[in-house]
Amino acid sequence: MGEYAQQLPMLVMTSLFGMPEADGPRLVRASLELIMGSREALEGDRYILETLRLLVERKRAAPGADLASWLMEHPAGLTDEEVVQHLRLLLLSAHETTTNLIANTLRMVLTDRRFRASLAGVRMTVPDAVEQVLWDEPPLMICPARWATGDTEIAGQPIRAGDMLLLGLAAGNVDPAVRPDRGTPMHGNRSHLAFSRGPHECPGQDIGRAVTDTAVDTLLLRLPDVAPEGGEEEPARASSWVSRRLVELPVAFAARPPTLAGGLRLPQPRPRPAAATVPAELGEDTAHGRVLPESGPPPRPTGWWSRIRLPRGK
Ligand code: HEM
Repeated sequence: MGEYAQQLPMLVMTSLFGMPEADGPRLVRASLELIMGSREALEGDRYILETLRLLVERKRAAPGADLASWLMEHPAGLTDEEVVQHLRLLLLSAHETTTNLIANTLRMVLTDRRFRASLAGVRMTVPDAVEQVLWDEPPLMICPARWATGDTEIAGQPIRAGDMLLLGLAAGNVDPAVRPDRGTPMHGNRSHLAFSRGPHECPGQDIGRAVTDTAVDTLLLRLPDVAPEGGEEEPARASSWVSRRLVELPVAFAARPPTLAGGLRLPQPRPRPAAATVPAELGEDTAHGRVLPESGPPPRPTGWWSRIRLPRGK
């Protein structure tokens, strides 16, 4: 949860906004506090607004190929503050929801025998698992909100003009009239309410699905033996007024050398020669284990990347 599902969506949003990646972790904390409505919520909101105002200032001076600059260049002629508010809505709408979708899908894939088995039997894909989660555990359980513009009635419930309505997305997804048998797999069926409906239907749903598919796929590819830690008991959850999130999802896997994109194995650092064996003719500073040759070519860079051997012509 903390080391993967919460970090990845924010890294995607900071790169979409043209922000430095380093801004990610602090924005993650601020967004989590704000959605939970914790004591730090207002401080979190203040931090997000300040960071986005600085971003807009920077993009005004040096626009780039990013969402912030495109919003500023939009023919609608948005003011800087309007751009800040749009970016804030995007950041908050994207982070909590995508984090929950990644975490709930991972938990289901790692713990639910139905999914684990069929995934191995390739009867079901990760996108199928994501869709099933969108039915059973929509990342936003309640959609805030709508105001009635006139008197009306919904399912026998009188609604007065001005009433605020909270849309029960999770409840709608298990309506017996729609799903008489909750056990029936729904993957491949996108007629759930997880992204709401109507003119405000989530405009970022494809981004959310793509980030989640990639997050789950890559984790299973890189750590094929990954398994939940902590036995069968239900993991702890924390609830906010609109969502329910896993507090943590501890997993274990056999340590293995990290890989680069495309599965390239990262070469392992060669063990350092023991200080004692350093020949005397080399420089003074042996006490600190550094080798300082007196003469000859400067030492070759020793970072792991210097030992990557790419196929000829790449
Ligand atoms: C992955 C899981 C996601 C879920 C389950 C989700 C769900 C929702 C829901 C239920 C709404 C409310 C719609 C309404 O008021 O009727 C919404 C709105 C919105 N979402 Fe998402 N969302 C997700 C990801 C994203 C991402 C990745 C982005 C941006 C990149 C995004 C951007 C937005 C925006 C801008 C709105 C406001 C739309 C409006 O008011 O017109 N969402 N989302």
